[in-house]
Amino acid sequence: MNHFLDIHKTDPAALRGMIDQARATKNARAGQPKATPDAEQPLKNRMVALIFEKPSTRTRVSFDVGVRQMGGQTMVLSGQDMQLGHGETIADTARVLSRYVDMIMIRTFDESVLLELAEYADVPVINGLTDRTHPCQIMADILTFEEHRGPIAGKKVVWSGDGNNVCASFLHAAGQFGFDMVFTGPQQLDPEDEFVALARSKGVQVSIERDAKTAVKDADLVVTDTWVSMHDAQSTRERRHNQLRPYQVNEELMRHARPDALFMHCLPAHRDEEASSAVMDGPHSVIFDEAENRLHAQKAVMRWCVEG
Ligand code: CP
Ligand code: NVA
Repeated sequence: MNHFLDIHKTDPAALRGMIDQARATKNARAGQPKATPDAEQPLKNRMVALIFEKPSTRTRVSFDVGVRQMGGQTMVLSGQDMQLGHGETIADTARVLSRYVDMIMIRTFDESVLLELAEYADVPVINGLTDRTHPCQIMADILTFEEHRGPIAGKKVVWSGDGNNVCASFLHAAGQFGFDMVFTGPQQLDPEDEFVALARSKGVQVSIERDAKTAVKDADLVVTDTWVSMHDAQSTRERRHNQLRPYQVNEELMRHARPDALFMHCLPAHRDEEASSAVMDGPHSVIFDEAENRLHAQKAVMRWCVEG
């Protein structure tokens, strides 16, 4: 069963195949209206459930459009409206959904929900974000980087800010795609040791640098994300803002990176908090290409899930 649960759980050759496939399919349909069916229809006659226990714009729309372009149909389900949100077990939910649909994408809080769903489902399960990781986002980000700058292997990626779920998937990708990473942020918000150790065990360099300007020196890519994620308690907002303010990505910080460095943010952004509007709308920024590439990357992920 080809579940897409995390980047480090997916074979590097398969990941490379998905990025290349995404790029080819994207190029083949360039300029066509969004509802034009792809030349190949790998999801023909297939039904895909998209479950959301947290809000979403990009993940929701890009999966829905992607499935349709590939010939399939979708149903979008809110976790709260399902029996899942009212005491039915995840295992039973997985067994039941497997009788109706051919694939499940879920955005949830605790990673254990995703893992249990995958354990008991007879159909592929895709991680559409948990508190801990966000692999589909980083597949889109790799595609975006390579479209603009060529192979990401050997490049230097700097994460500035909260060592959160998106940062974790970047660390997983560093190990699988072979690029180096520097994390810069307050110690209290470091990424989990496990993620750093895993990337290092695959032979890439991962370092932690408290000074943001030192960290971004020679960076090929600077990335940040919101200072308060959906799973973070609102009561931590002020503390997080105070801790993270020195790590805002602004024009002054970008001047310390390579002149051709890219800037990424998975969005949604809080403008002039984690990143200045000048950077978000400036020459380094590829944030809307990233958003578009969610669609193309996830289509390749879904195709791999059903075809291998
Ligand atoms: N980047 C991302 O996953 O966006 P949404 O929360 O809008 O899906
Ligand atoms: N870190 C953010 C990403 C949103 C796409 C969150 O989990 O809220």
